[in-house]
Amino acid sequence: MLENTHTSAVEYLSKPEVKLNEEEYKAIVKFVYDKLGINLSGDKRTLLTARLHKIMREYNLPSFTAYYNMLQKDMSGRLVAELADAVSTNHSYMWREAGHFEYLKKKILPELKRNLMAKHSNDIRIWSAGCSTGDEAYNITMMMKEFFGYEYNNWQAGVLATDISEKVLRNAIKGIYHKEKVKEMPPELLKKYFKRVDELHYQLSEQIRKEVTFRILNLMSPTFPFKKKFHAIFCRNVMIYFDEETRIELVNKFYNCLEPGGYFFVGHSETLKKYHGKFDVVEAAVYKKIG
Ligand SMILES: C[S@@+](CC[C@H](N)C(=O)[O-])C[C@H]1O[C@@H](n2cnc3c(N)ncnc32)[C@H](O)[C@@H]1O
Repeated sequence: MLENTHTSAVEYLSKPEVKLNEEEYKAIVKFVYDKLGINLSGDKRTLLTARLHKIMREYNLPSFTAYYNMLQKDMSGRLVAELADAVSTNHSYMWREAGHFEYLKKKILPELKRNLMAKHSNDIRIWSAGCSTGDEAYNITMMMKEFFGYEYNNWQAGVLATDISEKVLRNAIKGIYHKEKVKEMPPELLKKYFKRVDELHYQLSEQIRKEVTFRILNLMSPTFPFKKKFHAIFCRNVMIYFDEETRIELVNKFYNCLEPGGYFFVGHSETLKKYHGKFDVVEAAVYKKIG
């Protein structure tokens, strides 16, 4: 064990025992895959070593074996959440792959409005799965506000946004974004829904923030805790970190969580394979549940 909790990063990293050996690497890769679905095999050793050193310093751990043992014993889920923060990529920004938001507003919301009105329902359920800092969920909300206008309050139209990482969710709730993250926003929407807080940052208006519910959820959980099905699910740029087998299982779980005719959005670099008879492709990276 290191005795001094204030050991500097440089001293700590220079200790020979904090190298990640082959056995430790394999064990942690397997743990990450089993718990988070994230595939770190391939040449991710340097990346993993660098990212885990920070956690090891925090707990003053002498080796990756000690870290692994602590992970295995952790009943609180806190260490797994920290591991998720360390190994996942949270890159996101406002108005990313914006064609999807236009499609939501122009095609899906009018169709949904017609269908729901015919059923005397006003309940619209949309899920942003793997939401990172909330950019996507907030953009969906803006589209709903833009589409429904003054009628918006007659609809129960909130968005559920989930991620495994506590850290990104904490930032998502604040709704504060660096100017680089909002530079793709159409100027009129930027003006309408954001206020400048300083030279570098913008904050989303309260009227948008209060419409999104953020929750921690591991997409690898065997079942999802929802009583009602969704009209649309966005899971964009999340499954790229999963292998084919994990993706197939996950898409089947999403399928079961969608209303018949519900929409499923993935990132533009992703495609759904092997789902004939389950989804129709309706737009680039947009699928509609058959049934
Ligand atoms: C690259 S971001 C994508 C954010 C957003 N959907 C977008 O397209 O901009 C991927 C997110 O997936 C989350 N993630 C990775 N594995 C996850 C899992 N097993 N369960 C839930 N979220 C996960 C990460 O924490 C990260 O925030």
